[in-house]
Amino acid sequence: MELGLVRRAYAKEIMAAAGIPDARVETAFAKVRREDFVGPGPWSIIGWQGQWQGDYIPTPSADPAYLYLDHVVAILPHRHLYNGQPSLHAKLLAHAGLQEGDHAVHVGAGTGYYTAIMAHLVGRSGRVTATELDPELAARAQINLSPYPNVQVICGNGAIVPFDTADVIYVNAGATCPTDLWLDGLAEGGRLILPLTTNRGFGRNDPPLPIERRGAVFRIERRSSEFLARWISGVAIFPCEGARDPLSEAALAEAFAKGGWQRVTGLCRSDDVPEDRCWLRAPGWCLTHDSSSGGT
Ligand SMILES: C[S@@+](CC[C@H](N)C(=O)[O-])C[C@H]1O[C@@H](n2cnc3c(N)ncnc32)[C@H](O)[C@@H]1O
Repeated sequence: MELGLVRRAYAKEIMAAAGIPDARVETAFAKVRREDFVGPGPWSIIGWQGQWQGDYIPTPSADPAYLYLDHVVAILPHRHLYNGQPSLHAKLLAHAGLQEGDHAVHVGAGTGYYTAIMAHLVGRSGRVTATELDPELAARAQINLSPYPNVQVICGNGAIVPFDTADVIYVNAGATCPTDLWLDGLAEGGRLILPLTTNRGFGRNDPPLPIERRGAVFRIERRSSEFLARWISGVAIFPCEGARDPLSEAALAEAFAKGGWQRVTGLCRSDDVPEDRCWLRAPGWCLTHDSSSGGT
């Protein structure tokens, strides 16, 4: 079958699974060739239907049609590094609201598949600054993204590498707290898509813990000196180097255990917030809700 058609059907299907209609995101997924980013096939994939479906399985052949399913694909299997689940990224990118002309920052680009999707969304008048910590993956991303003049790939730690003011910061690894660099680097109205994970936020569990109690992706939006925040999705994701600290991790684990993440409406860069407005309190920052929004 013609791959362009397969890609268009895949884009429709993952948007439906993401549960948020967005024609621009769908078009970007329909255009970018996943096979250009995940190395030569056959590929090792893991099915995801609310939880990991066992170990890696190889695709039956190197036919790229196998990449157009809602599966994660290994990019560095020995380090448990995957090209993430398409429907999750479709959902997160739709919430990020990338526009033509935007400057977007991508932290944890891997081999660059989702960076390419972002490059389509910001268009020729926009640009994407992508950071990847792992030198082997960063080198692969640099090659894979060389056809995109609007992308710059930096091999380095995206929690500390400085960047120009960004309309969107898309973090693809699990932090325990927002870094000052990310919050300070958001333009007015800019959005930070931030996975916050506990130490049980990645890999297998014994006993199993529902994904929503292990990690969550929040959308943080800058409004002058204030930050709106809202929960988008549960998540299990590889840890973000340089954006994890034990006290914030403990506060996250406590907050996930009590539930109520959907009530979150704001992020405060101080821990001096009345108890009845706090969903999570960690040293130097809080996730807040309206005091009238009821119990957990
Ligand atoms: C879950 S993988 C996702 C890769 C890519 N987004 C994809 O889906 O194909 C997370 C990536 O974040 C990278 N990473 C972790 N901490 C990082 C940091 N502080 N700065 C940049 N990259 C980081 C890891 O090396 C890994 O490649």
